[in-house]
Amino acid sequence: MSEQKILVWDAPVRVFHLLLMLSFAGAWFTAELDGWRLTHISLGYTVAALVLFRLIWGVVGTRYARFSEFVPSPRSVVSDLGSLFSKGSEQRVGHSPAGAVAIVLLLALGLLVPLSGWAVLNEVATSWLEEVHELLGTGMGILVLAHIAGVLLASWLHRQNLVSAMVTGLKPGEPGQAIHRSWWTLAVVLLLAVLGFWSLQWRTAAQGGVIGPQQVLAAQQDDREPADNED
Ligand code: HEM
Ligand code: HEM
Repeated sequence: MSEQKILVWDAPVRVFHLLLMLSFAGAWFTAELDGWRLTHISLGYTVAALVLFRLIWGVVGTRYARFSEFVPSPRSVVSDLGSLFSKGSEQRVGHSPAGAVAIVLLLALGLLVPLSGWAVLNEVATSWLEEVHELLGTGMGILVLAHIAGVLLASWLHRQNLVSAMVTGLKPGEPGQAIHRSWWTLAVVLLLAVLGFWSLQWRTAAQGGVIGPQQVLAAQQDDREPADNED
């Protein structure tokens, strides 16, 4: 493998990953907190919107961002898992097949968890949906831990820092394998769209946010502010 570093991950993929990490972590840690439901919902919707963006970018984006480049066959996953434990240099320029399985599942859950949360909120069905939402959310949390462990393990076994590659976009490779544009403008638009949505939800929090369940939040506020309602 060449020592030369080439651009592999474009800026939208890296900014997407950063925002997804933050939004998922925020939704996760606020899931059980009283008084934080609007934050939970807003960050959960952000996860879904980011995944929708990534689905489009997976079709029209740069080489290694495309699903056609990294969604693996079952055989390649098995041989990749095997290679984790062999000392051979199995470094890849794009996502590895085993890593890609976790990524595909994370993207799928990144839509299903918010969708089930939305259904709970809008009382689409009876209370079993709450269980489904909690189960899917917990499943996603476990998968995230497996993903982080897999990234760290692969980085250590293959002597390649995958984490810094996701930050800088650079990986060892041949110049001919590099992507040609980093698409920073699109990444900045993505960042501003997310920050704009968060700020809008923040500023309209007293009314339950621009996208938010008025009845549920109103009920929560009654719980939180009993003193205001007493006289
Ligand atoms: C907190 C929730 C997290 C979620 C939901 C998540 C999800 C994802 C997704 C969807 C991708 C695919 C990126 C793409 O092609 O667009 C990815 C890749 C990656 N993630 Fe995460 N991630 C999380 C946390 C982390 C953390 C904490 C680390 C650092 C240890 C990390 C390191 C990486 C790396 C290095 C890759 C690229 C893997 C490769 O080289 O094939 N992720 N992650
Ligand atoms: C990735 C995003 C999300 C994750 C990881 C997540 C995770 C969770 C988890 C684990 C719980 C259970 C908390 C408990 O033990 O009581 C929960 C509760 C809840 N979530 Fe989410 N959630 C996400 C997105 C959403 C979204 C987008 C909505 C609404 C649109 C939502 C609405 C709710 C509601 C209403 C509850 C309380 C359900 C109940 O009353 O038991 N969540 N969430």
